[in-house]
Amino acid sequence: NPAMKGRDFLSLHDFSRDEIFYFIDLARELKALQNARIPHPYLAGKTLGMIFTKSSTRTRVSFEVGMYQLGGNALFLSSADIQLGRGEPIKDTARVLSRYVDGIMIRTFAHSDVTELAQYADIPVINGLTDLLHPCQVLADLMTVVEYKGKTDGLKMTFIGDGNNMAHELMFGGAKAGMNVVICTPEAYRPDPEVVRLATEDAKAHGGSITLMSDPVAAAKDVDVLYTDVWASMGQEGEAQKRAQAFQGFLIDGTIMKAAHPKAIVLHCLPAHRGEEITDEVIEGPQSAVFDEAENRLHAQKAIMASVM
Ligand code: CP
Ligand code: NVA
Repeated sequence: NPAMKGRDFLSLHDFSRDEIFYFIDLARELKALQNARIPHPYLAGKTLGMIFTKSSTRTRVSFEVGMYQLGGNALFLSSADIQLGRGEPIKDTARVLSRYVDGIMIRTFAHSDVTELAQYADIPVINGLTDLLHPCQVLADLMTVVEYKGKTDGLKMTFIGDGNNMAHELMFGGAKAGMNVVICTPEAYRPDPEVVRLATEDAKAHGGSITLMSDPVAAAKDVDVLYTDVWASMGQEGEAQKRAQAFQGFLIDGTIMKAAHPKAIVLHCLPAHRGEEITDEVIEGPQSAVFDEAENRLHAQKAIMASVM
């Protein structure tokens, strides 16, 4: 798809509905090829540089394995080991890496660092999570919804928890996918108002909606997709206790599941804290799709890389 080549992947907000479904369709094709062990070396001879200033299991392994399955190579660049961690400017790192590799994936704190990297790099930059957004995750999430429900349009998707990077990207992705997205948080942990404003515009244009709530049982009523994430994200470890207090009643348990549609699926980007935001019973239960969701990171990101690189 020539319209995709060379593009950065910083948020689903930057892509049209058709482009998002193009990625999902391609991801499903790549999944079928991989499951049949049919080689698909679309990125032979290409290299992805992967910069991490935060921990990761899924993102790191799925990007590296995905690149390998596409016939290319991936470099793990911990910020503790490259000069970026000693203060080399992002704009210099961007231009130097552009001379060596064919794409950069970055996971870091400030979203503005990723947009700056993308501005100075001549090659595609993929957002592997910032404090603001997590687009690779939500592409995999929408793919999982399509696999389980056959569609996204008109489905109710409720996120219960912190108004964080996951809540933001679920609004952007869910809006373009025509979903009715409910973000249920304590009052003091609402999502970013500018993200809410932009996602609400997108939702209106695509037949969906964005609603903010603070009552988890009401928010879960008749829901098709129930989503949660940790209460203290990476970088917020020092607030964990305070947050555990503030989020009392916001865990996904049997009571919440009773309010949901009987065929609702439960998603969690992982890692999960059992007994905090979700009970062991729910995450291990029959409605949990979390490990299919985690697997789909691999296929979704292969679709992104094969398209933009
Ligand atoms: N969901 C997710 O991004 O997981 P990792 O932090 O393990 O990459
Ligand atoms: N909100 C979490 C997501 C982890 C994949 C974090 O940023 O730590």
